[in-house]
Amino acid sequence: MVDAPAAPRQRPVPVSPVSADEVANVRVPTLEAFVLPPRVYHDQDVLDYEQDAWFAGGWVAIGREEDALVPGQYFLAPVAGESMIIVRGNDGELRAFYNVCRHRGARMLEEASGTLPRIQCPYHAWVYDLEGTLKQPRHTELLVDFDPVEWGLIPARVDAWQGIVFIDLSGEAPPLETFLGDIVSEFARFDLGGLRRVRRIDYDVKANWKALVENFQECYHCPGVHPQLNRITPYNSGQYLPSDGASMNSFMDVLPQFETLSMTGEADGREPMPGMTEDDHKRIYYSVVWPNMLYSLHPDYLMLHFITPLEPGRTHVRCEWYFEPREIEKPDFNPTEAIEFWDLTNRQDWWVCELQQQGTKSRAFTQGRYSAMESSVHGFDLMVADRYAADGVVTEQRRVSKQDSTRGVVERAQRVTQGRAAD
Ligand code: FES
Ligand SMILES: [Fe+2]
Repeated sequence: MVDAPAAPRQRPVPVSPVSADEVANVRVPTLEAFVLPPRVYHDQDVLDYEQDAWFAGGWVAIGREEDALVPGQYFLAPVAGESMIIVRGNDGELRAFYNVCRHRGARMLEEASGTLPRIQCPYHAWVYDLEGTLKQPRHTELLVDFDPVEWGLIPARVDAWQGIVFIDLSGEAPPLETFLGDIVSEFARFDLGGLRRVRRIDYDVKANWKALVENFQECYHCPGVHPQLNRITPYNSGQYLPSDGASMNSFMDVLPQFETLSMTGEADGREPMPGMTEDDHKRIYYSVVWPNMLYSLHPDYLMLHFITPLEPGRTHVRCEWYFEPREIEKPDFNPTEAIEFWDLTNRQDWWVCELQQQGTKSRAFTQGRYSAMESSVHGFDLMVADRYAADGVVTEQRRVSKQDSTRGVVERAQRVTQGRAAD
């Protein structure tokens, strides 16, 4: 009798295909730095590494607790090429399992979400309870050295912050809130787990996942690409917030004549969320949570993007809008203007990301430079480059300066220009 294989199968520690030398010119101050080498947006071996080392290597945002609130309620989540089952047990615990039968390996659940009393494989009907335990399968009584207790579903670590569910396939990441960093304290005054989804839109974008995250990190493109957004929150109104850990946090000002980001700039009668300060009423908060979540908190709603790489040049984006239950219950509740606004803005962003994907493939393209308005893009790229380099060095400088703002950049640039004109 041979031993059963250790489960789950341990993959060898992936070796980065991008050397420290290759990203050395990214890992310098923003105003001296070059953007990431073009091949990291196009090469399959780079994406394979990112999936193994990053998406399967630590916490990744995958969905919302509201989709698995009661026993048996589940949703499927794609992570690092895996299909994961997130399910609430009869004991009230949220659990994650690989969507793989222990018998001959069939994927079991196909419906993206639902409620089940147990998990039953469609192939030979092996049954697992909601805690993942295998119930005695038919005709296995005579098997030698086979104890169903040892053949439960393969679990993964799962946790939630503010109603947002994260999964850690490695099982080795630090506690979730330690990983998340400053975003936890920055938004502790809100109960975002109490919000409810009103709309979900899925996008299939023909661009590398990193291009989408980078795009979210700057508003340098806003005057030309998003006239509707730039009208309400001018592109140079951005300011940074403390951003240690996996989150990079900032906000932009809403001009006094507007209330929120929507087609009209109005909140359609919605109150600001409980816990909001006077300052919060006039800000849109933006965070990127490494590696794949984009967080946009408005006075009256939260929007999240969950980003899933599919191919080097193809990315799935799930965008969701969440509102206060007491607003949703009002007879005149109308989220349309807010959803339409961001659906338009999303499509404008995907358009330029797809253009970038096409252009960076050209033989003619060499690494470009960041403008002074793109220090946050550089901040994300440093997270990327440090991980490629895998030399233990964390490049400190994430921005032109932490207290800096895009407005500050504009003013400094004006002084430089005036100085040159006077010379
Ligand atoms: S593969 Fe699942 S029961 Fe056979
Ligand atoms: Fe944009």
